[in-house]
Amino acid sequence: MPPRKIIIDTDPGQDDAIAILLALGSPDDITLLGITAVAGNVPLSLTEKNARIVCELAGRTDMKVFAGCDAPLKRKLVTAEHVHGKTGLDGPVMDDPTMPLQDQHGVDFLIETLRAEPSGSVTLCPIGPLTNIAAAFQKAPDVVERVQEIVLMGGAYFQVGNITPAAEFNIYVDPEAAKIVFGAGVPLVVMPLDVTHKALATKSRVDAFRNMNTKVGDMVSAWTSFFERFDKEKYGSAGAPLHDPCTIAYLIQPDLFKGRHINVEIETTSDLTLGMTVADWWRVTDRPANATFMNDLDADGFFALLTERLARL
Ligand code: RIB
Ligand code: CA
Repeated sequence: MPPRKIIIDTDPGQDDAIAILLALGSPDDITLLGITAVAGNVPLSLTEKNARIVCELAGRTDMKVFAGCDAPLKRKLVTAEHVHGKTGLDGPVMDDPTMPLQDQHGVDFLIETLRAEPSGSVTLCPIGPLTNIAAAFQKAPDVVERVQEIVLMGGAYFQVGNITPAAEFNIYVDPEAAKIVFGAGVPLVVMPLDVTHKALATKSRVDAFRNMNTKVGDMVSAWTSFFERFDKEKYGSAGAPLHDPCTIAYLIQPDLFKGRHINVEIETTSDLTLGMTVADWWRVTDRPANATFMNDLDADGFFALLTERLARL
C-alpha cells in the first residue's frame, strides 16, 4: 500500500503536536502534504507558530505550514488556554521557529491541493475547529467530491461536553463550520471524546516517552505532564487524553478502533446545547448515516504504535 496523502488542519495544542509528530514519524504510511493552522486552542498567530515549532522538533524544516482562518465563520473565537497554557504548548521551554510560514492562505492551499491531486486521493485530518475545511468547501464547492475521506477529532456522545455540559471544544468553537463538514457528504471518521478519553497518557506511558532519551521524547513527556492536569481535575483521569493522535493512529492502524456508522447532526441554534454532536448511536431516527463514530480503542496497542513511531524521530 502506498503512503496515504493527507493534510493536517490543526490548532496546536500539545495533543495536536503529538499527532503531527506521529504523522512525521510514519513516512511509510503517511505522506503529509502540508499543515494548515486554524484558530482554536490559542489564537492563529500562536497555532501557526506552534505548528512550525513541532516540524522543527521533528527535523522537518521543509514541511509547508500555512496560516488559515483566525476566527470561526460566524462567531467570536473561544480559546482554551486553561487547558493548553498561554502559548498553547506549555510544559517545556520551546525556542521560536526559524522555518518560514507559507505566504498562501491555508484555505487556498486546501483548495489548490485538492484540485491538483487526483480526485479521491487526499485525506483531510482536521484536529481543531473545522473553520478552514468549511471555508474551503464554501469557497470552492467543486473540491468537496475530490476529498478521499475526512478523519477528524471532535464531538462527543456518551462523554458529552468538555467545554460546555453539551459540547466538545472543536465543534463548539465553530458549530456552523461543523454543520457544513458533517453535511458535505464526504466519507467521515469521527474521533469523539468517547474514544479519546480512553487514550490516556498514564504515568507508565509518559515514562516510556521520557525513557526514549530523545528531544522528541522529552518534549512529549513534558507536554503530556503539563496538559493532563485539566482532565485529572475534571474527570479524575489517570493521565492526559491524547485526543488528536487518535486520527493519525487510525490512518496507520484502523483496527485499533471500534465504532458505528451512524447519523451525527450538529446543534447550531440552541444556546443551551450549541455545538452538541447529536449522535444517533441507537439508530432511533431514519436520518441517513453520515459518519463512522468511534467509541473504543485498544489503548495499549495505540501507545505501543505511538511510542515506536515517536522513537524514530
Ligand atoms: O476537545 C479536544 C480538542 O480540543 C483537541 O483537538 C484539543 O487539541 C482541542 O483542540
Ligand atoms: Ca486540537
